[in-house]
Order: sequence, then structure tokens, then C-alpha cells
Amino acid sequence: MPGRQILVTAALPYANGHIHLGHLVEYLQTDIWVRFQKLRQNRCLYICADDTHGTAIMIRARQEGRSEEELIAEMKSAHLKDFTGFQIEFDNYGSTNSDENRELCARIWKSIREADIIVEKSVERLYDPEIKTFLADRFVKGKCPKCGAADQYGDSCEKCLANYSPTELVDPFSTISGTKPELRSSTQLFVRIEDLHPFLEEWTQTGEHLQPEVSNFLKQNFLSEPLRDWDVSRPARYFGFEIPDSPGNYWYVWFDAPIGYIASTWEWCKRNGEDLATWWNEPGTEIHHFIGKDITYFHTLFWPAMLKTAGFTLPAKVHIHGFLTVDGEKMSKSRGTFILASTYLKHLDPTYLRYYFASKLGPRLDDLDLNMDDFIAKVNSDLVGKLVNLASRTARFVEGTELSAEYPDDGGLFAAGVAKGDTIAEAYERCDTNTVVREVMALADAANRYVDDKQPWTLKKDPAKQGELREACTVCLNLFRQIVVYLAPVLPQLVQQTRELLGAPIADWAESQQPLLRTPVNPFRHMLNRVDRKQVDAMIEESKAPTSEVPAGEATTNESSGDGLEALEKEPLVAENCTIDDFVKVDLRVARVVEAMHVEGADKLLQLTLSLGGDIRRNVFAGIKSAYQPETLVGRLVIVCANLQPRKMRFGVSEGMVLAAGAGGKEIYLLEPDSGAIPGQRVH
Ligand code: 2FM
Ligand code: ZN
Repeated sequence: MPGRQILVTAALPYANGHIHLGHLVEYLQTDIWVRFQKLRQNRCLYICADDTHGTAIMIRARQEGRSEEELIAEMKSAHLKDFTGFQIEFDNYGSTNSDENRELCARIWKSIREADIIVEKSVERLYDPEIKTFLADRFVKGKCPKCGAADQYGDSCEKCLANYSPTELVDPFSTISGTKPELRSSTQLFVRIEDLHPFLEEWTQTGEHLQPEVSNFLKQNFLSEPLRDWDVSRPARYFGFEIPDSPGNYWYVWFDAPIGYIASTWEWCKRNGEDLATWWNEPGTEIHHFIGKDITYFHTLFWPAMLKTAGFTLPAKVHIHGFLTVDGEKMSKSRGTFILASTYLKHLDPTYLRYYFASKLGPRLDDLDLNMDDFIAKVNSDLVGKLVNLASRTARFVEGTELSAEYPDDGGLFAAGVAKGDTIAEAYERCDTNTVVREVMALADAANRYVDDKQPWTLKKDPAKQGELREACTVCLNLFRQIVVYLAPVLPQLVQQTRELLGAPIADWAESQQPLLRTPVNPFRHMLNRVDRKQVDAMIEESKAPTSEVPAGEATTNESSGDGLEALEKEPLVAENCTIDDFVKVDLRVARVVEAMHVEGADKLLQLTLSLGGDIRRNVFAGIKSAYQPETLVGRLVIVCANLQPRKMRFGVSEGMVLAAGAGGKEIYLLEPDSGAIPGQRVH
């Protein structure tokens, strides 16, 4: 039977932030599913890209004094480095800011126009006259129109949870420039998605494409009433693609982002001499999207509606997963549980997390908890204690020789593993890796009982029992390898190590069904360390360090309000007053750290390159090394005294001073303005 042709996507990560463990739930789940399909000899592509458009990226680039293109190029390589570190293998990793995407957006737009479901409306929006930009909901704050709470975002109130439009905010201000926004009207384009209601009703409810709870959720929340027109354009300035037949208007980021799935496939097709239509327009390809539950609406209503209208293949399935919590709570910077992929990789082996997530993920939308104690226990007892030990406890007794020529009587263990093959494969197919791991670990338990029973270390000592020893090791190494085949999608590193040990590739699920015989056994090389609690603690500590990365929705305020007098006792207030004239002599500015490095030969100093906006850069030596790792500083805002007399030091000239509080040593706290401040702004 010819294999299936499957195109798989994971959601495109935004280019304005680094990959963290929350993201990895999805990229790992998808990578595992894709590797499984490839192992089953299906033709399968794993497609992804960076999601690069929108106001957030435009503002960030502006704040960092560089072009959006430069910013997105840097983020793309950072994302790829993180993904590679976790052995996530894409067939193509593109960008939504590509020629292919622009062309496809235009093509799909044309079909939507021809279907006559675009409507134009004049919309009143808040406009920041200082930076000449319409403000996206998250860039305007004010008092909640319902409960009056101050400092609430333009779309919803964190205090009373009310949803509203930014124009309803009381006393609004732009979080970028601080100015009062003006109400300006602009023409915006909407898709009359209600015209596709009957189609969506059908497509979402067949039971084939969505998990049952998702179908029900859509039916109850959206499909029970007319669908609201979908606002697909944004007025200039906007970082994105200008709509060809509507100058001055840009496609909203959520219009071009999913089209990025097709554009990234197209890049792959161009590189491999294939026709895009075979993947996206002709029957025969199954399209599978993996997403988090927060973006259900876009992928199960808008996206199928767009594909249908433009004549593209509809998704065979949208696989939706829940969110990650750490130790039972939302990831938190202050608790050190908002862990970046790159931070994890500095301390821990990616194999651990691949295994742990696989052991927790199932076909439903439940949130998944990374419990650190459970993580350590599971990795140490399952992966190291049960699985790797199976090889390490036996391979050394036969290394440099060959496995038996005939498969010995193992009491039916290998055959029992073969018999489990279909159950395990079906579990992978429905993304139930929790069941996969459970089934496979039961096989590992049985194999370990066999080792305990045979005691190869005792056989080794008796010259008369060398035949028996070889047979026992042949059984153990085959049981080990059978398990490695079953877990190959989860543990690619172990696949490689097993290949090195036994010299036989693992590239086909069928390898689990036949024992290896007469195979030379190479010297055993250490495969995996136990996790040490200290490594986990160090990762958490490092994640508490200040960086420019502020998790969405996470308040940066101090959690305890027990302000004592200790600081004042150490450093009493200055008795003598200064006049306002004295004060204004000090030119304090907001600056962004664009580079930070250690200084050779200096124990206390870090060398910082600061951007004060535009091309203005300052070189500053700051005595903050005891409290900050240089890489955690890059990108963050600081306050600098910009007119301090330049000072010649042993290492170079220092052209300013960054402001910090604290007694020194570990207690140094850099000052940072509230979000919205931009480099070059004066501090009054
Ligand atoms: O939610 C997000 O992170 C989006 N960047 C996902 C986009 S998925 C697709 F539609 F492009
Ligand atoms: Zn409110």
C-alpha cells in the first residue's frame, strides 16, 4: 500500500519574542508526530515559519532603533537555534515576510474579492499623532469604562474582566508616546464570513477534523448565531503587506500568518523541484495543523473559510493542545518558571523534556503541568533507570563480539513487544503519547525483570556460562532496541546512540518487528546522565534574572509590599537640598542595551553599548558584573546619565553611567522605565 502524503504545520511563532518552554509543548508534540509518520514510511513534511508582521514588531524595531527586517532576521536565527537545540527538525522554516507569502496573499485575496464577500466600512480608531500610527488595542491604556480601574489595556480590563473597544477607554493614552490619542476614522475591509456559515457548520461538526470538545465549543459559542464580519485590514503605518487594491491599507497579521503555511511549503517545493499544487490544491495530501487552544478561532473558522473560498485543500485535522503550567501555576518570571528554551539548554539535556512532554501529552485539550519533582523522578527512573540501563547493564558483556545467530527463547518477551506495535502506533496517530510511553515502559519493566533474572554479571564470571551470557545479552539488547524503535519519534538522540552501539539504522517502524542477529556490538558509550536537582535549580535561578523578555500578562511589580527601613539605615537621605537648576544639569535618558560583554581583566565591569535612539550609541563600563549576566541585558531599557564627563579607564573610555539601586555585590538593581518608554527620551 503506498504511504500517505501528509503536510504538517505548527503555529508560526511571533518574531517579537524568544521561544520558551510553553511554545515547546507544541513544537515537540508536532515533531514527535512528524517523526512517527516518517518512521511509518509516510511522505511527510514539517512546515513552519516566523510570524513577522503587525504593530508589536513595528514598535519594537522602532524602540530598538533598527529596521523591522533586521529585527526579524535576528529573531529567526534565534528561533532556529532553539529549535535545533531541541532536535526539532523542520523540512522548511520560512518567514511570513517573504515574496512567496506576498504573492499567495494577493492570490487568495483576489479569490475572496471575486466571491464578493469583502465589505468596506468606516471605522473610528485611536491614532497617536506623535508617532503617526493607529494604535493596536494593546498599545493604548486608560481607565476601564465599566469599573473605572486605572491603567487598563484597550481591549479588556484585568480587574473586572470586561471586554470593550479601545475607543471606550476613559482618559486614554498611548503606551508608546504617552500622548492622548485622537479619534480618527479610517476605511477598513471586512470579510463577510457569515456567508460561509453553512459550510463552517458542516466542516466543524463532521467529527473528523476537530476534537469533539472543540466542535462543541464552536457550536455553542460562535455558530449558534451569525458570525461577525472579520476585520482583515489595518491602516498605515503597519508593518505588513499593503493590499494591492486598497492603497494605504495593510492585511492584518492574522490574514497573512496562516497563508505563511502555504508560502513556507512553496519555498520547500522550489528547493525540491515539486509543484505546490500537489500539496495544497489536489486531493491526496492530508493537511494537519497543530495549534494551542488560544488560537482555535482563527484556525477553525477563518482559515477553513479562506481556504474554501480560494480553492485550497482543507485541513484533514486541526490538533489542539492545552497550555503549559509549571509546578501547577502559570509560568512566572518572578518564580523563575518562565523558562526560555535557550536557558533550559544551558542546564539540561533536551532528551529529558522531549520524554517528559511526551509522557504527559494526550489527545485532549487539557493543560499540561511540568512538575519539577515529577520531571526529575520520571527522567531518572524511566529514561535512565529503566531504558538506558537495559543497554548499559548488558552491552558491556558482549562488546567487541556478535549477537547470537539465532534468537534465543526469551519467554515470549520480544513477541509480546511485537504484539503491542499496533496499539502503540494507533496511540501515536491520535497524539496520545501518554499512552505510548505507558505501554513502552511496561515493556521496559518486563525486560528489566528478565535482566534481573538472568544476572549477566554473574554469568560473566563462570567460563562455562558464556553461551548463556551471549543469549541473555542478545535478548536484552533486542528488547532495548525494540523499545528504542517505539520511542524513536520522541528520542532521536537515543536512536543515534543505539545505531552506534549496534551498527544498524533505525529508520523504519518495521525494525521493531524483527530481532537483530549476528550483529557486532560496539563498545558501549555512556548515553544519558541522571538529572541532578542542582541543574534544575540553576535553570530556575537564571530564569529569574532580568531580561527584556516580559511574559504576556505578567505584572513586574514587587510581590511583597513589606517595605522596611533597612535601605535608608544603610544610606540615609542626603541632608542638603539641590535646586531644580542643579537637577536639570544632569541629562538622564532612556537607552537600550544593544550589546553587553565581559571585559577582559576586569572583575566588576561589563562593557555596554547603549542606543539612545537613531544612530546615537554610547560605550559605558558599568560595575554590575556581580549581579548581571551580559546576555540577559541585551535588548532591555536602562536609564543613563548622558552628560557625565567621559572617563578614560584602563579598558577604554566610558561615556556615561547607567543608573542602579542597591548595595553592590548581588544586590544591584538596574533602573528600567515602564514599558512604552523609548530610547532617547529624557527622564525628568
Ligand atoms: O499565536 C501566535 O503565536 C501566532 N503567531 C500564531 C500564528 S499561526 C498561523 F496562523 F500562522
Ligand atoms: Zn474594569
